Amino acid sequence: MRKIGIIGMGHVGSTLSHIVIDRGMVDEIVLLDINQKHLKAEALDFWDAQSFLPHHTKIIAGDYKDLADANLIVSTFGNVNLTVESGDRFAELQFNVKQIRSMAEQLKKVHFDGVFLTITNPVDVITAVYQRELALPKNQVIGTGTFLDSSRLKKEIGERFKIDPRSVSGFVIGEHGNSQFPAWSSIRIFDNPISSFAKENSVNIDDLEEKTKEDAFRVIDGKGYTNIAIATAAATLIEMILSDSHSEVIVSHYNKKFGIYISLPAIIGRKGIVKDIYLPLDQKESTKLKTSAESIIKKTKLFE
Ligand code: LAC
Repeated sequence: MRKIGIIGMGHVGSTLSHIVIDRGMVDEIVLLDINQKHLKAEALDFWDAQSFLPHHTKIIAGDYKDLADANLIVSTFGNVNLTVESGDRFAELQFNVKQIRSMAEQLKKVHFDGVFLTITNPVDVITAVYQRELALPKNQVIGTGTFLDSSRLKKEIGERFKIDPRSVSGFVIGEHGNSQFPAWSSIRIFDNPISSFAKENSVNIDDLEEKTKEDAFRVIDGKGYTNIAIATAAATLIEMILSDSHSEVIVSHYNKKFGIYISLPAIIGRKGIVKDIYLPLDQKESTKLKTSAESIIKKTKLFE
């Protein structure tokens, strides 16, 4: 049986739940939120839609005790206003960490032993907090990291070259935050290195790194939050995990070299990270990755 839990019924959690239920991705979904009235209303709204759907999903407005046998739990809550005020997702750390310790205690009590996927920001640091508080194996606790940023970069490249973003391969790596960067030396279009493709087509790509970084804030500026893309990204990861696909992804996962959670390529399966994938970096990229890791290390130290 495929069973997941979604913690937080805000814009992201509600959208992710809607995608999972609408696509019939699981047999059972447990919805959780600190606001019980809101939680029951969300569940009621989903129940009202069920007769239109080709699949049946058992939808529970639940609690941590309902998650003992979940394959996967997703943490979606946060306070995006703090990110807006500061222009840095790190501003949500203290607010979000406070809730995690008690939640983790309740999940340990029911012996949850599935995969824990974090969306909550600052996702690299929060994922480390979850792993420490849940005391689960490091490979079972992951964050969405720069999975969405990599999609945003493909969109920017697609618009610039007027091509399908799915024809672009490669990653934005590092922190899901202001120190992220594209690993340009491995990014390819129609399997050609982007540097030569840009030269052949006289296209300037210098501004795409910043545009990608700013994408989230452009959306937030217009509607106050992001939800659609991040929920779609998370749903993609959920499918890969539940189907034990052994797909290549870019997610925030534990990095032995730096001793932190950071986004680099890996293979993902039913129990989370199967193994790391080596990504060749040029000298400039190696330096930027070290800088990004140092930024996460500095922030991680603030709550240890
Ligand atoms: C974003 C949030 C998920 O980048 O940090 O949309």
